Amino acid sequence: PSLEKEFLPMYFGWFLSKRSSEILRKAGQAFLDELGSLKAFKKESKYFASAIEDPKIKIDLTSYFVKRPPGVLHCTTKYMDFGKAPGAEEYAQQEVVKTSYGKGFTLSVSALFVTTKTVGARVELSEQQLLLWPGDTDKITPADNFPKGSRAHITLGCANGVEAVQTGLDLLEFIKLEKAGNKGEDMGEIGGGKLQYFDNGMWMFVLSKKIDVKAIFSGYYG
Ligand code: 2AM
Repeated sequence: PSLEKEFLPMYFGWFLSKRSSEILRKAGQAFLDELGSLKAFKKESKYFASAIEDPKIKIDLTSYFVKRPPGVLHCTTKYMDFGKAPGAEEYAQQEVVKTSYGKGFTLSVSALFVTTKTVGARVELSEQQLLLWPGDTDKITPADNFPKGSRAHITLGCANGVEAVQTGLDLLEFIKLEKAGNKGEDMGEIGGGKLQYFDNGMWMFVLSKKIDVKAIFSGYYG
């Protein structure tokens, strides 16, 4: 008898444990709180106009990024669109995807970033984790050529009207600037790391101690 065609997920990715999700969410909130009350940030707050109540007090970035992922956080590897996305079948057929399914990993979060559209965590993938990373995703435009895994991130929040797919594109914008030799303006140390400003409301907070999060590689079926 012929079996049903394999059902493909909306996306594959690493799904953080509840505890790791809480730790990362808290780190993100602490960062937004501190950034929103920083003098240097207030000076550049025109980019976040709708978050300004009284710029002398603080800018409420937590409510600016209204769209926050419910439940556990995740790091998307391959967006599948249930098999309709380009390269979806090829990705799912890989041996490494099949053998890794349901397995535990530890992801390393090296930085948190904020743009006018998104807030996210930058993920540094190991050689082994890069085997699960698709070859076609580290691009803003088809001509881009960024190192594999450049886009790896965990979305923490999006501004009103912004779709989650934006977070990875925003991270690639930082990487594009870095690649062009722009290291951002050094804004000094804030709790737990150093802050860089890349203009246009783009802030990168490089953690002095990376946050390790536990995650299971799996699929999300909606
Ligand atoms: P995210 O990885 O930045 O959070 C469901 O929409 C999930 O797939 C979200 O986690 C989302 O973004 C991601 N996603 C949606 N569309 C995508 C696309 N075209 N490319 C890559 N990831 C996408």
